[in-house]
Amino acid sequence: MAIFHSFRNECISMLLWVLAFSVCVWGRPATFLQDFRITWSDSHIRQLDGGRAIQLILDQNSGCGFASSRQYLFGRVSMKIKLIPGDSAGTVTAFYMNSNTDRVRDELDFEFLGNRTGQPYTVQTNIYAHGKGDREQRVNLWFDPAADFHTYTILWNHHHVVFYVDEVPIRVYKNNEAKGIPYPKFQPMGVYSTLWEADDWATRGGLEKINWSKAPFFAYYKDFEIEGCPVPGPANCASNTRNWWEGATYQALNAIQARSYRWVRINHMIYDYCTDKSRYPVTPPECVAGI
Ligand SMILES: *[C@@H]1O[C@H](CO)[C@@H](O)[C@H](O)[C@H]1NC(C)=O
Ligand SMILES: *[C@@H]1O[C@H](CO)[C@@H](O)[C@H](O)[C@H]1NC(C)=O
Repeated sequence: MAIFHSFRNECISMLLWVLAFSVCVWGRPATFLQDFRITWSDSHIRQLDGGRAIQLILDQNSGCGFASSRQYLFGRVSMKIKLIPGDSAGTVTAFYMNSNTDRVRDELDFEFLGNRTGQPYTVQTNIYAHGKGDREQRVNLWFDPAADFHTYTILWNHHHVVFYVDEVPIRVYKNNEAKGIPYPKFQPMGVYSTLWEADDWATRGGLEKINWSKAPFFAYYKDFEIEGCPVPGPANCASNTRNWWEGATYQALNAIQARSYRWVRINHMIYDYCTDKSRYPVTPPECVAGI
């Protein structure tokens, strides 16, 4: 009887442990308010479909922004976004992770730069590691991101950071610490999004101004998914090599992903700081360290 009891107790405590662990690191499609809060202009973010989707609004009074309630150390974050249709020139929609530290900032950026009707949206990505950014790359999208929702994902583990558009990797930043290249891995990051006017630089370098007679501008978000180690949270989570996002299939691009990454770089990349000799007469080390 005693043996049976202790066996059962062990099972129960194991079950509780598994449940507790699952609650901590298990992602699930969330409603907006489960994981996020509004950080800029309540009146410009509207919840739809019982909070499973939101509408971001930009007009002449304000843009808007939101942030995750928690910070995470490694993991994967994705959202489905439908960008401003038609004439979106001068607008910027951003989706990023940020350590929210002033001096030694880590940041992983997706910025969607609007354009005149019929002209391609540009996705700018940037990476700050240990306080240093200035690593912009730009890709013109091969579809109209305002016609439908598409999935935008940031994968961040001990091996690399990958930005995906749907299933297609558009940017990889490898952990090349062994070669002395900084890699974000010490600070947790929050998940952020903003919609704002930036017509002094966004579209064709600021030549195309926002057309306020088209306002208000609307972008839509849904299917918020964050799977990662929350901080504060279980102390050993981030270094746990059994987290799925650290697994073998997530440590490097597979052959198919590598091929689509090459396809993007050859056919859709319009700017790469790595090859900008006027900015960087000496090629930055991470550009030659290999992916
Ligand atoms: C906008 O369209 C122009 C013309 O096709 C293109 O050169 C530019 O890269 C596009 N994106 C931005 C953000 O200006
Ligand atoms: C701004 O939008 C208005 C209304 O659609 C249009 O008549 C006007 O030509 C647009 N201006 C520019 C610079 O595109």
